[in-house]
Amino acid sequence: RFDNHVKLVEVGARDGLQNEKKSIPLATKIDLIERLAKTGLSSIEAGAFVSPKWVPQMNKSGEILEHILKHDVPARSPLTFSFLAPNLKGLESANAILSRYPTAFETETQRLARASGTADGPRKPALEIAVFAAATKSFSQKNLNCSIATSLERFGEVIKAAKDADLRVRAYISVVLGCPFEGYDVNPHRVAEIATDLLEMGADEIALGDTTGMGTAPRTKDLLNCLRKAGIRNEDIAMHFHDTYGQALVNTAVALEHGIRTFDSSVGGLGGCPYSPGASGNVATEDMVYFLESLGMDTGVDLDAVADIGAWITNEVGKPHDSSVGKAVLAA
Ligand code: HMG
Ligand code: MG
Repeated sequence: RFDNHVKLVEVGARDGLQNEKKSIPLATKIDLIERLAKTGLSSIEAGAFVSPKWVPQMNKSGEILEHILKHDVPARSPLTFSFLAPNLKGLESANAILSRYPTAFETETQRLARASGTADGPRKPALEIAVFAAATKSFSQKNLNCSIATSLERFGEVIKAAKDADLRVRAYISVVLGCPFEGYDVNPHRVAEIATDLLEMGADEIALGDTTGMGTAPRTKDLLNCLRKAGIRNEDIAMHFHDTYGQALVNTAVALEHGIRTFDSSVGGLGGCPYSPGASGNVATEDMVYFLESLGMDTGVDLDAVADIGAWITNEVGKPHDSSVGKAVLAA
């Protein structure tokens, strides 16, 4: 990978929609994912195998996974689809579907072989499972209904089972730059310890979640320096900024300068977190593409195409269109 290549992980179909009170039709979610697949994005978070009691909006994630496996979703780049699975129950639900379509996706071994140029053949989507830890005990309790230590024990099992199934694993750590319950009192050394544990368990990537959007440039820098000192490599880190305080692009600039090259974003700025009151959406994909390309970075993503999708999906969901760049591009 060239140093100026940035990977954007599109989380609109999961993080962007999970908080919506009104049930969004399955067909709209599939339409969103299929439109996103044509924009040049290489990674799309598509659903969550979580409790429908807690997050009812994600209750058709199995059908989304099945659709992806049954249909050849046209894509501009080789695509990885990601699904949250916080426990063995979630992973088993995903695996039950995958086992019915064993040749419809690339395993992690096959994906890596293709990426390194040692394998060829028809391109199929790859799949990723994501677990989600928290940096504070209050947020862990609210979001996962258990302590950080218990959550890590469970994730150890989920990661092992996912690796046995030859799937890539992403591990989020939420509230790394501020917590709705503990404020700014989040210890970056604790984040580094949790990240180290998750990597040792076999996670392929740590996604650092600024769930509340409380993160600032100096705090982002301190956190990343702390992770570096703990021996965590930049290539194992993704940043997941929510834009509640409008700091996401500033924090992105700090992370880029530090050497991070994977960032999450959500088309139209959709999103929020049910356990983070007042949290607004993820930073908009349109804003990220415009910002990164203005710095000479290459995202491979078609800005006009994502701007169209942002306007369409926010209208479908009945949300304000939250991307400044998206609105400007469409008005131009
Ligand atoms: P638990 O330990 O089983 O306990 O699940 P529980 O009391 O919370 O839930 C119990 C009920 O959920 C039981 O059903 C379980 O069977 C069911 P009941 O017997 O009452 O009918 N259940 C499940 N159903 C389907 N699939 C599953 C599953 N697991 C349990 N996988 C757990 C604990 C955390 C798994 C559960 O509470 C849960 O799924 N909660 C939702 C958590 C969630 O989705 N949060 C939002 C995503 S994280 C996020 O947005 C942050 C992120 O964007 C990064 C950032 O911004 O920082 C990733
Ligand atoms: Mg989030």
